[in-house]
Amino acid sequence: MALERLAIDGGAPVRTAPLPLEFPGVHYMDEREIEAAARVLRAGSPFRYYGKDLQREVEAFEDDFKRFLGIDYSVAVSSGTGALHTALAALGVGPGQEVVVPAYFWVSIAAAVVNLGAIPVLADIDSTFCLDPAEVERRITPRTRAVVMVHMSGAPGNVKAVREVVRRHGVLLLEDCAQCAGGSIAGQKVGTFGDMAIFSFQMNKNLTAGEGGCVVTSDRRLYRRAFAFQDLGYPRDENGRLVTSEPDMRFWGMGYRLDEIRAAILRVQLEKLPRTICAMRRSKYRVRQALAAFPAVQLRTIQDPEGDTGCFLITTYADPATARKVNQALRAEGIVTSPQGVSNVVMTEWGLHLYYNNASLVNRTGLAWQLQENAGLERDYNKGACPAADSLFERSILLPIPSCLSEADEDDIIRAFQKVLGALL
Ligand SMILES: Cc1ncc(COP(=O)(O)O)c(C=O)c1O
Repeated sequence: MALERLAIDGGAPVRTAPLPLEFPGVHYMDEREIEAAARVLRAGSPFRYYGKDLQREVEAFEDDFKRFLGIDYSVAVSSGTGALHTALAALGVGPGQEVVVPAYFWVSIAAAVVNLGAIPVLADIDSTFCLDPAEVERRITPRTRAVVMVHMSGAPGNVKAVREVVRRHGVLLLEDCAQCAGGSIAGQKVGTFGDMAIFSFQMNKNLTAGEGGCVVTSDRRLYRRAFAFQDLGYPRDENGRLVTSEPDMRFWGMGYRLDEIRAAILRVQLEKLPRTICAMRRSKYRVRQALAAFPAVQLRTIQDPEGDTGCFLITTYADPATARKVNQALRAEGIVTSPQGVSNVVMTEWGLHLYYNNASLVNRTGLAWQLQENAGLERDYNKGACPAADSLFERSILLPIPSCLSEADEDDIIRAFQKVLGALL
């Protein structure tokens, strides 16, 4: 059969309408979220602690989320960035300490470490696109306080192997589940493997109220410390009363409280999360199955396909030039969302998710690097520090999988891949 002329060479594109925007939870927003938000407003009580007719939505969301994960404690906060800062503070991270973070991450992770006066230490990733356990082992020093296991781009990393390394060295484990809410490994939800975990409910995430976050743990002391830190350093007893007698609970805290309106929305979004994930996973695995016919395309290693939340498809090619060519050809075939979305990019275009794109990190900007306690802890954050990640970024394409793809949309994605890969590989 003659090959079809590619759109990039002047042929007809597979589709002309943009794909839907990704934003997973947004596609399932309806009257229920509107009613939830309106209920809080009608009660005139948008603040978590008191009001004319307090609905206790933040507390209820914390309970719902705990139950969903199967964990003992949760503190809802105003963002994932705030959740990271809160969790690392609760874990006691500070000057003179190192925190191991992956080369593929989000700027907030390095920011939280640096803002606490500690030093981030990069560890390379593997074909899961998350921390390589052997690299974690190599990066741990007597100064390491914690490792941040980030479950990137919708699928869990090899958290069990990382936990084994971390435990052996007596180091703490924080899971960052911002991009993987609802993900699991053999039925165990991400967020329940480490000492603490954080989530984000910003609009790109699997459930959303526009902004929001959560810190979870099964350790009561860590919970109480997190609770105090996110609320101005206000430590509370069982009845919510101020405690001043516990040295362990003294913080210069932050203003990261979540409000009642977002909490009410998040309770509805959480109920819908299994459906949202199911839709993305179904679409993603249809495409992955079709790509199995092209052995030259490497698919991301997935720990447990049943526990993949499905929000991104990552394909990897033999060399950077092939990845770029395939990406441009796919885009020309109409495999793009609107300019607002991530769309379909070679991963080098993925901004502050790549360690070497963080100018403040590369240039070691800020107080952390000037503290005497951190003398001698200088590291290199320039491109080249994590060669496995560098190579994967240049050779891989990231395609978001919207939660509302129709079968026809999926057919178009598959057809475009088949057309492009058939011609170029
Ligand atoms: C891996 C990861 N961690 C943390 C965050 C921070 O979350 P937020 O945007 O809610 O502050 C994000 C969000 O973009 C993220 O992707």
